[in-house]
Amino acid sequence: MSLALPLAGVSAACSASEGAVGGAAPGSGTQGASGIGDPDFPEDGNGGYDVEHYGLKLSYDPGSRRLSGSATVRARAVQDLTAFDLDLHGLTVSQVTVDGAAARFGRRDDELTISPVARIAKNARFDVTVDYAGVPDPIRNYANLGTYGFIATPDGSFVTCEPNGAKTWFPSNDHPSDKATYAFEITVPAGVTAIANGELAGTPVTSDGRTTFVWRERHPMASYLATMTTGRFETRTGESAAGTPIYAAVDPAFHGSLDTLYTKTGQITDYWSTVFGPYPFSSTGAVVDDYAAGYALENQTKPIYGGFAPDSGVMAHELAHQWFGDSVSITRWKDLWLNEGFATYAEWLWSEHEGGSTADTVFRNYYAKTADSMWSYPPGRAQRADLFNGSVYTRGAMTLHALRREIGDATFFALIKKWTASHQYGNATTEQFVGLAEQMSGKDLSGLFDAWLFQPRRPAAVA
Ligand code: ARG
Ligand code: ZN
Repeated sequence: MSLALPLAGVSAACSASEGAVGGAAPGSGTQGASGIGDPDFPEDGNGGYDVEHYGLKLSYDPGSRRLSGSATVRARAVQDLTAFDLDLHGLTVSQVTVDGAAARFGRRDDELTISPVARIAKNARFDVTVDYAGVPDPIRNYANLGTYGFIATPDGSFVTCEPNGAKTWFPSNDHPSDKATYAFEITVPAGVTAIANGELAGTPVTSDGRTTFVWRERHPMASYLATMTTGRFETRTGESAAGTPIYAAVDPAFHGSLDTLYTKTGQITDYWSTVFGPYPFSSTGAVVDDYAAGYALENQTKPIYGGFAPDSGVMAHELAHQWFGDSVSITRWKDLWLNEGFATYAEWLWSEHEGGSTADTVFRNYYAKTADSMWSYPPGRAQRADLFNGSVYTRGAMTLHALRREIGDATFFALIKKWTASHQYGNATTEQFVGLAEQMSGKDLSGLFDAWLFQPRRPAAVA
């Protein structure tokens, strides 16, 4: 989905397709590139087109662990295309059509290359439908990322895809710089609940022992935030005090935490709306599954908690991501502090709001840890091999606090709201954040950001 932002991912995708950005296999002539142009993840995403919408018809059987799907990807060509790629990991493709006509396709590693019968003209919209099936194979043992993607559980599936696991369950332009809207039609055995992003369209229909759930996410979403979590769930729905619909679900093993999960989700969503700007999506929520992932993920509209009932600090973090990461998305993974630093800072703000330690105290306590390993890892440049390093979280959050002290509370909180408003539903970069902070404060902040984000050492004493 393209937005009229000067540095949005779409323009970067264009240059990648011409081979201008490092690493990605360059598109030769009218072949779309095999990567969208992220130098750290050269094969992630693809060049030559911009996805507007994914229509995913999926059916999953927890017993056999078999997923079968028909994915329709509506895209707009950003160059003439005789061939282009989608990202897909494992699974067997049986048929591909482009605008209804059968297309040739090939597989190499995690690239599905499609050659339509007729060349697609630059700017044309086209629909690609991929029929596929198989037992999804999640991505494992990838530096500090753990296991992610489509993970089978005894009663269903736990689906958390950051950074590039969407390709384990649907053919996609699997990079956050190409956001799109989604419709999910998920069929599971009766008694199983299927949970995806956005809102349910109508009541799930059961026939012949199978139930179909239709969910729609009508706001642009990065592929790693898409989910089809399935299994036995207890749910509670309603509205927050400010009127945002809430969908909370827990695996029966977490029966006792459903009401707190539901209530806190509404309260925190409402509170962040006063601090960060209006809630960007049409519903909020929470899912606790019994798969012990060891982490949570900010799936759009429905953060998922992997095998634990979250405390309100963790919920404050995942719900803050709805603004920072989900609505305002990064353009390149190296800027991950724009997600994790902000969400971690939100935890500190939440602690202060609840009468616990103030953000300033949390900051000072970390600053006093002179031997901490975060000082050698510059958080403004997340490393592919260690993407979720604690520095990206904690030192990223400290960067925001140092900025707040430098520019004052009024300017800082105005900046945060301006940031979420001006990049809502889009993509942004660290350079854009620094630029906005300088513009709104009228100060040269290059020294502050350089010391906090880019130097492999502890910044000099702060006031
Ligand atoms: N964004 C998540 C959070 O901090 C972390 C995801 C970790 N991903 C992974 N594959 N381990 O809320
Ligand atoms: Zn996070």
